[in-house]
Amino acid sequence: MADEDIKSLTSKRVLLGVSAGIAAYKTPDLVRRLAELGADVRVILSKNSEQFVAPLALQAVSGHAVHNHAMTAESESGMGHIDLARWADVVLIAPATANFIARLCQGAADELLTTVCVATAAPLVIAPAMNQQMWQNQATQDNVATLIQRGVRMLGPDSGEQACGEVGPGRMMQPEDIAAGLSQSFEHSSLTGTSVMITAGPTWEALDPVRGLTNHSSGLMGYAIAQAAVEAGASVTLVSGPTNLEAPQGTQCVDVISALQMHAAVMADIDRQDIFIAVAAVADYRPQLEELKKIKKNAEKVSIGLIRNPDILAEVARLPKAPFCVGFAAETHDVEQYARAKLKAKKLQLVAANHVGGDETGFGVADNAISLISSDSVTELPKQNKHALARALIVEIAQHYQASNNNL
Ligand code: C5P
Repeated sequence: MADEDIKSLTSKRVLLGVSAGIAAYKTPDLVRRLAELGADVRVILSKNSEQFVAPLALQAVSGHAVHNHAMTAESESGMGHIDLARWADVVLIAPATANFIARLCQGAADELLTTVCVATAAPLVIAPAMNQQMWQNQATQDNVATLIQRGVRMLGPDSGEQACGEVGPGRMMQPEDIAAGLSQSFEHSSLTGTSVMITAGPTWEALDPVRGLTNHSSGLMGYAIAQAAVEAGASVTLVSGPTNLEAPQGTQCVDVISALQMHAAVMADIDRQDIFIAVAAVADYRPQLEELKKIKKNAEKVSIGLIRNPDILAEVARLPKAPFCVGFAAETHDVEQYARAKLKAKKLQLVAANHVGGDETGFGVADNAISLISSDSVTELPKQNKHALARALIVEIAQHYQASNNNL
């Protein structure tokens, strides 16, 4: 096989389990995406999922007869449940409904798909899909936490508009993102066994109890990087300023408001981190005095004294046992030149530089592009959605991190 024919899932056997949720209608597209990456895909439909997707469509795109929920003498005489469980390199459940997650958690073996999940030694990956209330229900959250603890990997869910008309977390990740996330679990650049701390979002520097200084950082990029690091197998601590985002499943999230709080939260746990990725847009200055009462508009003119905040990243990078440090640089011009200066000044291993202003990349928008700069290399990660970009960035960071360990 020529090198260019080897794709990220070439010769990987993916057993796709489809449980009975509306997002099942997207699974023929998912199968097609997995096959495009080189995977050999077999499909098991759970009870009732045939109401949301036609078995014939899945058969056509996978090239194999679909296994349905029943364990009959006929089906067992073909590829039976133990053979299927042994055949798989990975079992992917998409969509994974709240009910299916609960049964998985209990170890139920009441139909073909649940039985295969209990019988397989292959890693399990699930892409949840459900109404946002069902996702946020404590029972679902507890079940998900238990599954993660047992080593089940999560892909998503995403947030946004739902089939039921509500808006919130619980949407199944898009098929192309599930396929990309799954292929990442086979990459050599995995971060299994690595502790990663990420700062994200803006900070809020209070002037008085109701007003403050802040910026437009949405936290999207930092949260996407946290999710990609979890998908790559890292143990992830996310120290986040105020955002409207849900912390990605599997991360340990520490919520902070001001730069001083972010500084304290980072320093309290930095000793056990292997990699530190500073994505937060930390306010450089804070008001010298925080008024305890709301400032009244009595005077014509007021001046506010500002003092410098600590540079969290520079301080971490200067620690005697500093982790591998990655900084971000948002620049409007001479991006590479400024990024190189930052790499040197803050003693970083990598700087992820992005061009802001002028086009549609940077703060608060879905797409972004990055130049990743080390002391002796520049890698261009082209404009793409922040989830895809975060995954590509984590692959690069993992490779640089491993190379730096090999050089020690
Ligand atoms: O120096 P500048 O603010 O441009 O550097 C940006 C990088 O430094 C980002 O990675 C940001 O998260 C980090 N930073 C920090 N603490 C600060 C200011 C910036 O960690 N007070």
